Amino acid sequence: MGGVSARLEDLPLRADLRGQTPYGAPQAALPVALNVNENTHPVPQDVADDILDSIARALRDVNRYPDREFTALREGFADYLGHGLTREQLWAANGSNEVLQHILQAFAGPGRTAFGFSPTYSMYPLLTRGTGARWVSGTRGDDYTVSASDAAAQVADAAPDVVFLCAPNNPTGTPLGLDVVEAVYDATDGIVIVDEAYFEFAPADARSALTLLPGRERLVVSRTMSKAFAFAGARVGYLAADPALVDALRLVRLPYHLSALTQAAASAALRHAPVMLGMVDEIVTQRDRISATVEALGYTAHESWTNFVLFGGVDDPATTWRALYDQGVLIRDVGIPHHLRVTAGTTDETTAFLDALASVGSAA
Ligand SMILES: Cc1ncc(COP(=O)(O)O)c(C=O)c1O
Repeated sequence: MGGVSARLEDLPLRADLRGQTPYGAPQAALPVALNVNENTHPVPQDVADDILDSIARALRDVNRYPDREFTALREGFADYLGHGLTREQLWAANGSNEVLQHILQAFAGPGRTAFGFSPTYSMYPLLTRGTGARWVSGTRGDDYTVSASDAAAQVADAAPDVVFLCAPNNPTGTPLGLDVVEAVYDATDGIVIVDEAYFEFAPADARSALTLLPGRERLVVSRTMSKAFAFAGARVGYLAADPALVDALRLVRLPYHLSALTQAAASAALRHAPVMLGMVDEIVTQRDRISATVEALGYTAHESWTNFVLFGGVDDPATTWRALYDQGVLIRDVGIPHHLRVTAGTTDETTAFLDALASVGSAA
C-alpha cells in the first residue's frame, strides 16, 4: 500500500494508555548478555533431545486444538511443587507475565487498583494499567526490605484489590519473610500475589509461600520456568491457588491459550526437573562471587536470593553501562540512582563482566 505511517497520536488510543512506555529491555546481540535475569546455561543436550521428541509427537496432532485444560502439564506442576497440591490448584500460561495478567484481568480492571512495594518488577504497573486498573506504589526501607507491620499498614491504607509481593524482589534481590505475606493477607480483602519467579535461587531452607496456601483462598503463588529452568524462550509460567481462584481465570483466558507445542515442551522439561535445575547451584556460586567482587571494587552489593545482583555506589550508571556495553557486556540500568543490576552467568560470562567492571575503575 505504501504511504506514510500514522503517528500514535493520530490513532484513537485509550486515553489511559497515552504517554505510557512499553516494556523495552534492550535486546542487543552482545557476546555477554546479563541484563534480563535469564539462565544463561543452555538446556543440556539429552534433555533437549527428549523435549524435541515430545514436540515431534505433539506435532502429529497439531491440526487439532490442544487440551484447553493442559491437564498433563498442571499435573506435572503439582508434582514438581509438592506441598500436597493437586492439579485443580494449578494454572499456567505463556510466561508468568501472562499468568499475572490473567489474575489482573479477573480481579483488577477499570475502577480497581493494584499495589506493590517499589522498586519492584517493572511489569506489574504495565500489566495493571493494561487492564484499565490504577497502579499504587508502596515504599521500602533503605535496604529495600519491608517489615510485616509496615507492609500491613501500607496495604490497609491503600485498600487495593490486588497486592503484588515479589519474593525475592526484582530488581533488588531482597528476600521477603512469610510473616510479611501473612500480615499483608490479613490487612486486605483483595487478592495477594506472591511472585516467586526466583524462588529456586533462595537458600535451601527458605520456606515458600506455598506453605501458606491452606485456608487462604485469596492467596496466589506464581512461579516461572524462565529462570531456574532455563526455559525463558518457551514462555511458560504457572501459579498455585485455591481451585475457586483458578476457576476465575478461566473467565479471562483465551481459548487454547497454551499451544500443544508449549504444553509438550514444558511437560517434557518438567520430567527432567533435577537436571534442568542442576545449574542453580553454579549460578548461586557466580552470584555470590559477583557480590564479593563488586564489594572489593568498592561498590555496595545488595543481599540477593535471586540469580542477579543489584549494586550501588555507581557514580554515573549510564556511563558505566555504556563502558561495559562497549566491551561486549550487557547489564541493566533499572533506573535506581547510582545502581546497576547484573545477572549471574556462566563462570566465563561472570568473569567477563567482573573484568570489564574492574577495567572501568573502582566505585566513586
Ligand atoms: C519478578 C518477576 N516475575 C515475573 C517475571 C516474568 O517472567 P516470565 O514471563 O518469563 O515467566 C519476571 C521476569 O523477569 C520477574 O522478574
